[in-house]
Amino acid sequence: MILSVQNLIARGRLRAFAFSLLFVITIAASDAGAAWRAAGNVSAVARETNGVVLTLSSGARVAVTFFDLDVVRVRAAPRGVFERDYSYATWSRDRKTVAAVIKETGETIEITTRVEGPKIIIRRRPFTVTVLDARGNVVVEDDAARPVSFDLENGAIEASKRRDELEFYYGFGEKAMPTSRQGQVIVNWNTDAFAYAPGVDPIYQSIPFFIALRQGRAYGLFFDNTYRTHFDMGRTAPNRYTFGAAGGELNYYVFTGGRERTPQKVLADYAELTGRMPLPPLWSLGYQQSRYSYYPEAKVREIARGFRTRKIPADVIYLDIDYMDGYRVFTWDKQKFPDPPRMLGDLSRDGFRTVVIIDPGIKVDENYPAYTEGRAGGFFHQTKDGREFQAKVWPGVCAFPDFTNPKAREWFGSLYAKNLDEGISGFWNDMNEPATFPPDTRPPQPNVMHDAAKTFPLDVRHSGDGTPGDHARYHNTYGMQMARATFEGVQKLRPDARPFVLTRAGYAGIQRFSAVWTGDNVASWEHLQLSMAMLTNMSVSGVPFVGADVGGFANNANAELYTRWLQAAALTPFYRSHVATGLQEREPWSFGETHERINRASIELRYQLLPYIYTLFREHEQTGMPVMRPLWFNYPTDYNTYSPSLPFEQFLVGRDLLVAPVLTQGDTKRPVYFPKGDAWIDWWTGARYEGGTFAEIDAPLSRLPLFARAGAIIPVQPVVQHTGEMARAPLSVVVVHGADGEGRIHQDAGDGYGYRRGAWRATTVTQAAGGRTVRLKHVGDFAEARPVSLVEVLGLNAKPKEIRVDGREAKNVSYERDERRLRVPLPDGGASEITFVP
Ligand code: GLC
Repeated sequence: MILSVQNLIARGRLRAFAFSLLFVITIAASDAGAAWRAAGNVSAVARETNGVVLTLSSGARVAVTFFDLDVVRVRAAPRGVFERDYSYATWSRDRKTVAAVIKETGETIEITTRVEGPKIIIRRRPFTVTVLDARGNVVVEDDAARPVSFDLENGAIEASKRRDELEFYYGFGEKAMPTSRQGQVIVNWNTDAFAYAPGVDPIYQSIPFFIALRQGRAYGLFFDNTYRTHFDMGRTAPNRYTFGAAGGELNYYVFTGGRERTPQKVLADYAELTGRMPLPPLWSLGYQQSRYSYYPEAKVREIARGFRTRKIPADVIYLDIDYMDGYRVFTWDKQKFPDPPRMLGDLSRDGFRTVVIIDPGIKVDENYPAYTEGRAGGFFHQTKDGREFQAKVWPGVCAFPDFTNPKAREWFGSLYAKNLDEGISGFWNDMNEPATFPPDTRPPQPNVMHDAAKTFPLDVRHSGDGTPGDHARYHNTYGMQMARATFEGVQKLRPDARPFVLTRAGYAGIQRFSAVWTGDNVASWEHLQLSMAMLTNMSVSGVPFVGADVGGFANNANAELYTRWLQAAALTPFYRSHVATGLQEREPWSFGETHERINRASIELRYQLLPYIYTLFREHEQTGMPVMRPLWFNYPTDYNTYSPSLPFEQFLVGRDLLVAPVLTQGDTKRPVYFPKGDAWIDWWTGARYEGGTFAEIDAPLSRLPLFARAGAIIPVQPVVQHTGEMARAPLSVVVVHGADGEGRIHQDAGDGYGYRRGAWRATTVTQAAGGRTVRLKHVGDFAEARPVSLVEVLGLNAKPKEIRVDGREAKNVSYERDERRLRVPLPDGGASEITFVP
């Protein structure tokens, strides 16, 4: 089932092919008027603390430096003048802390550091860069046959690396492509891609970062350029990959992966550069219900009641564009919602948070303060000849805040005050590619996705945080900077709460500000399958809080599809149902009783595992590790994980849970691959599967195939109806039998920043002596932490003869044979050691 590089579903493959063909034709066409020039030979070398700056015979200058011990940075200025070193992606600046040791010969310049680590070899004629790891293995090497080149007329740039034919690529942010991305042509240009088909590219997000895997060794490459960028990952020539941009500098980072050469190390270094997501509020990890749109107020109340009366847990209700007065952001349609604070207060008392959509377009209307204030402040985009730039979106003709202007960000951020005062908890930023409607004055023409008239003209001005430029340069940052304005504004207004922002568009580093959903997907099995590859790849692109519209946005779903989707997504980081306007009712109870029961169970599973998921988000904040992971990420030496074939995608949640959802219609079993090096225990039956094997697993509609890693410790809790009930719900740990191991549980207030000032508790649970002892240790001062009140041992074939809790015989122990699960209640106040005599 695994390991074919070209495992594209037939339709996807055709589309992808058509698009890449189009792309190649476009490039070829633009090449015709281009004046490409090779970078040339090294003509002068200037030594810097952490590397060298070279002058090349073409007039270009190139800086090759150690950004950090395991991160090499290459920066090339085609005309020989470096720009201000400013990036929207990065949060750490070049620290120049690594002292380079530079050795020049007639042919080369070699750069190392004082400690054992990577080595850079620069060849002088022609100029090429090779990066070696600490063991002397090549990490990346320029392809001398296709040197770094610049088109001085149009500003385009390009570089190529030699490629091993067995090198696999992952990441690239949000791409409607299969899991592994070798042989793909990728374009980054944020696009409103309604109902994108598999293979369509680009879509909403631009993250020009990938992780490469070659025979178990990983490295990463991040091309920090916000213009339209492209990557050809061995499609045109299998022994090379090429990347380039329509303008700007050639500015990229190579993450060597350090001594270990693992994906974890590569991603940790990328996260160190572009940032990690701060711990989101606990409520945003609960189940969320959306549609375009719930209105009027009575409908919203009915939906909320629908959850509570049916005992289906949920935390969040979304209000899509129809809540506004004529789609004017920060207003209410008072017909539909006569008293928002009252409604929001009632919802909140019932355990519901409300999130509203806020789009960037501000209606041009002299009687609308957001417009008149924005204009007076000079916060809107201007055309190249200094007029206010206007275009149509939902409200009609709009002006658009320039989110690359810090003052405009601050102003826009301050507008959230009203919504917050009314009782809104989170904000959903949409249409921020930016998306516009083609002007009415344009003669009718076919509706195509990649239509230049569906975003700003390329010459619209941006203030660029001090480096003014045109839209061609800043287009890809628009969504991210909008999300930043929202995040920073809300944080300033509510310094004691953690902001929740959801965005459709973004650029590398978006995780510092926002969760991301995969836009307007489609209610189809194909899209359900695609969502797995999209979310795991987003996750390894540094963005942990990701999800797809459950059920599919466009078109109606049948009962089976919706039910399987709600089940498959139950443990994906962002868990929200959403559906387009005019379509079916799409609540967990909309498809009859049988489906309602199964849907409830899917959402309940989510809530039971929230203590584990929350701990993973805390771990992400500290280390940059993703919540959702493709298998290869943790098992890079297991080649069976490299190129999973659709529709049999699987993913990991953290290190310890393996999810193998059913993604095809009618199937009631599916093959599951257990990665090598660990054994896996069926969550439902306790059956053990050895790593490196396949098994056919039963998966009736009511069951999500779910496995826990032997040796793992997984915190769980009983079902609660919303996260507000968690503080009173007893905490349990599932000790997964079959290997020694350790796990950690993070607890804090679930909101606010007390945890950064010591109000947290970490519980470490260790399983040792072949499962004969389980020890619990606590650190941290969070007074309201829940004690562990139950230990469940999963995967035990028989009830142990004797069980002791802190030396005393355990009471009220139960053992379920068909779950192979032993339940040992702990006394009030917890316990520190449980021992078993088999
Ligand atoms: C866009 C969004 C979608 C939303 C709709 C109306 O299509 O992607 O999620 O429902 O606009 O706001």
